[in-house]
Amino acid sequence: MPQKFYITTPLYYVNDVPHIGHAYTTIGADVFARYKRSKGFDVFFLTGTDEHGQKVAQSAEKEGKEPKDFVDFIVGRYKEAWKTLQITNDDFLRTTDERHIKTVQNIFETLLKKGLIYKGDYEGWYCVTCETFWAESQLEKNQKDEKICPDCGKVVNKLKEETYFFKLSAFENKLLQLYKDKPDFVKPKSLLNEVVNFVKQGLKDLSITRTTFKWGVPVPSEPQHVVYVWFDALINYISAMGYPDDERFKKFWPADVQLMGKEIVRFHAVIWTAMLMALDIPTPQKVFGHGWWTVEGKKMSKSFGNVVDPIEMSEKFGVDAFRYFILREVAFGNDGDFSMQLFINRYNADLANDLGNLLSRTLTMIDKYFEGNIPDVRDHGIDDLSKDIVNLLNQTPVEFDRCVDKMAFSEALENVWKLISFANAYIEQEAPWVLAKKGETEKLSCVLFNLYETLRIVAIFVSPFMPNSSLKIWQQLNLPQEPEKFAPVPFGMKIAGIKVKKGEPLFPRR
Ligand code: MSP
Repeated sequence: MPQKFYITTPLYYVNDVPHIGHAYTTIGADVFARYKRSKGFDVFFLTGTDEHGQKVAQSAEKEGKEPKDFVDFIVGRYKEAWKTLQITNDDFLRTTDERHIKTVQNIFETLLKKGLIYKGDYEGWYCVTCETFWAESQLEKNQKDEKICPDCGKVVNKLKEETYFFKLSAFENKLLQLYKDKPDFVKPKSLLNEVVNFVKQGLKDLSITRTTFKWGVPVPSEPQHVVYVWFDALINYISAMGYPDDERFKKFWPADVQLMGKEIVRFHAVIWTAMLMALDIPTPQKVFGHGWWTVEGKKMSKSFGNVVDPIEMSEKFGVDAFRYFILREVAFGNDGDFSMQLFINRYNADLANDLGNLLSRTLTMIDKYFEGNIPDVRDHGIDDLSKDIVNLLNQTPVEFDRCVDKMAFSEALENVWKLISFANAYIEQEAPWVLAKKGETEKLSCVLFNLYETLRIVAIFVSPFMPNSSLKIWQQLNLPQEPEKFAPVPFGMKIAGIKVKKGEPLFPRR
């Protein structure tokens, strides 16, 4: 039986339309899901939208819309974006789905009965942008001497209301023990350290209901209380799987990777993990926090007018180029800065020049010297350079898998591009046009065979990142089926007798 693999993205707030940041997490998860599928895993990939809470309610009000009409519209934009970006999610959970609301209510009542939720009064500060409670001691001040959120810098509100609390404090030791027992539970390590320090400072019970607005899941036994948006949304990872009874839940839970931006790792590695402990459900295998994008050195914001729209980018440059760029440009755990110039430079250098030219030059030469037929070659390492490229072709899959498995996407692609650059240099140094002139047919056959093999293997590597270009390469190589079905295939597949079909350039220069 194939091994299961469950990967999730956060649920995105629907107070605004998707931008490059949301696309980043979703594309990262998509690449990983595609990669795992190509390795024979039975994958479940979940994404969706976080639709309740004060922030969304306020955005709806600003637009003069009912919250439900407002969220339906934005959810449409998310679904459209994921379709354009060719995201292969298996489900899309909306926190306004009936299946989710019921699960939240059941869990609330279960924990209430267990004594892990209790009623009390909350007095403290709240940031609507982050939907986060803060103690006075945690706040910072702005130039006008107003109290601001330490995460987003927005002015916070004072709250005093009756609330239900979740006994988060009861899980302090159990959480610390988990972080100790599973040092890979939170990745990268710097985020684990932050989480450990946070918990070590002491956990307070968490206010998990609000009474001052209505846009949320009502507490069944006391509907004037609506469930705090984070407590509601975190449950999605199991409500979508049909917790507690569905086969889907039994098969796929615990999640293998929960992917998100670094700023919300704390919510997952602390609150969500404690909620699961409270319910006696296994905790996820891994919580991975990636870095943040700024644009031209600034935080992305509508007021700066610097929001990067993933749909616009894909329409202009092709979805593959966009997917490639955001995963190649910066290491997944680090922060990155987007600029159009960087994008275009990388597009021209890596895609148009390195990869595009390798394909077009190789196929042109196979056409010219062998009428398009792949020569049958016995000795692939006819000289030292050929031996080197064969060695590299044998080594790269090991390196590539090692990197992708730890979500080091940029490093994985770097290894593929090392191979591509080597192949381009191999052309220059072997100079097939000279071999043809001198009538050195055996060597010429070997060089072109090795180049063809390089492209075949590169097409397999890039398939999760750039599914369309990978398929185009595959078709020009005139190979049967699809690239991902062939993974992993070692060097030296029986390909003699195939006639190549040179096509349009993959990436026209910009
Ligand atoms: N709704 C919560 C998550 C609930 S999960 C149960 C939330 N939503 S969000 O719309 O603010 O999206 C957060 C996610 O979007 C981040 O964790 C990150 O994955 C992604 N990003 C949003 N802006 C980003 C950047 N500027 N850069 C990179 N990713 C960022 O938090």
